[in-house]
Amino acid sequence: MAKNTSNPIRKIVDGMKLTPNPNKEMIALSIGDPTVFGNLLPAEVVNAAVVESVKDCKHNGYAPSVGYEKARQAVADHYSLPSAPLTSQDVIFASGCSSALDLAISVLANEGQNILVPRPGFSLYQTLANSLGISVRHYDLLPDHGWQIDLGHMESLLDDHTAAIVVNNPSNPCGSVFSQEHIKDILKIADKNKVPIIADEIYAHFVFPGHEYFSMASQTEDVPIISAGGLTKRYLVPGWRMGWLTIHDRHDAFKNEIRPGLLALTTRILGPNTLIQGALETILTKTPQEFFDSTIAVVKANADIAFEALSKIPGLKPVMPSGAMYMMVGIDMEKFPEFHDDKEFASAMVTEQSVFCLPAQCFKYPDYFRVVLTVPQEKLQVACERIEEFCRDHYTVTNGANGME
Ligand SMILES: Cc1ncc(COP(=O)(O)O)c(C=O)c1O
Repeated sequence: MAKNTSNPIRKIVDGMKLTPNPNKEMIALSIGDPTVFGNLLPAEVVNAAVVESVKDCKHNGYAPSVGYEKARQAVADHYSLPSAPLTSQDVIFASGCSSALDLAISVLANEGQNILVPRPGFSLYQTLANSLGISVRHYDLLPDHGWQIDLGHMESLLDDHTAAIVVNNPSNPCGSVFSQEHIKDILKIADKNKVPIIADEIYAHFVFPGHEYFSMASQTEDVPIISAGGLTKRYLVPGWRMGWLTIHDRHDAFKNEIRPGLLALTTRILGPNTLIQGALETILTKTPQEFFDSTIAVVKANADIAFEALSKIPGLKPVMPSGAMYMMVGIDMEKFPEFHDDKEFASAMVTEQSVFCLPAQCFKYPDYFRVVLTVPQEKLQVACERIEEFCRDHYTVTNGANGME
């Protein structure tokens, strides 16, 4: 298993020369961790709930492997919808959304089978699947259509060995948010081909004003769905490792094998953190809406700044996000002939401008880079100015002369 385990992002980043310009302070727009700059803090009520959970000394022991019943009930109550009802039995805790995804992939797919995953997409799906001998097939997202799924392409990849389709909405790295109609179209394909969906909904509700978030499960009564979520992003606490699966299965397709399988898998290790489980009901019921609104406002303002600044740079093509915390930026590589690929481009940007963006080959999507939008505004502005300078220095017009067209 170890031999089959590798994280593409680590592999690519470890292979990059990342020596910042000593005269410029490093600005890392690369890490999808909203806590790194200290500008985005959890809600006070959330911190207080965890302190209380420590003090009451009731959550220091081993919890049931699926999690405390009270905390599971809190998640069920919070995420239950008339169109996608949940009970505590449908909730399984894990150590962050990553472990929740691990449980979902492990239970749905067997060695030798395949799962469908998005391109560009979060690389962990491949890491987890391949380590279990499960292959991944990448379906394309379309940048010119708000990163919607190329549904024809997705359907063409399905075969008798496809165990699940992974759908990530809102998306890392695209920051896209699927419309209700698009979700229904995805579900139609899943239904027609009788394939369950693993919905990676860690950015659930993390959408800009004017956009609406629809969970996959809320749009179907027929397709069985395992949704992975958690506190990580929206509550700004990735280190707390509080994630979960919610099981949506109106016709009991998961009754005989998948539900017992998930329970069995949780007994391998006790992953979920008990102190956070102790605080979970308060976290979910008492975090004020203003907290979420102000986080979104920061990210949206940054998206506007980055989009405006980067749109003006010849050779770059940013795609405006609608949610999550990322923006993808296309690179017209022909205009930057010094660089062989997005990796070399990103690496040179570190050397010259001390700005680090992840080359999108980390997400199986060359000729783009990803910008993280949770940084303080001033830093983002400086970063955009430096990206502009970098592009100006390297932009090459087709007649071979150096400089702007
Ligand atoms: C799309 C997506 N899914 C899952 C995760 C993992 O979340 P967690 O830190 O809760 O394991 C991330 C983290 O960046 C993510 O972007």
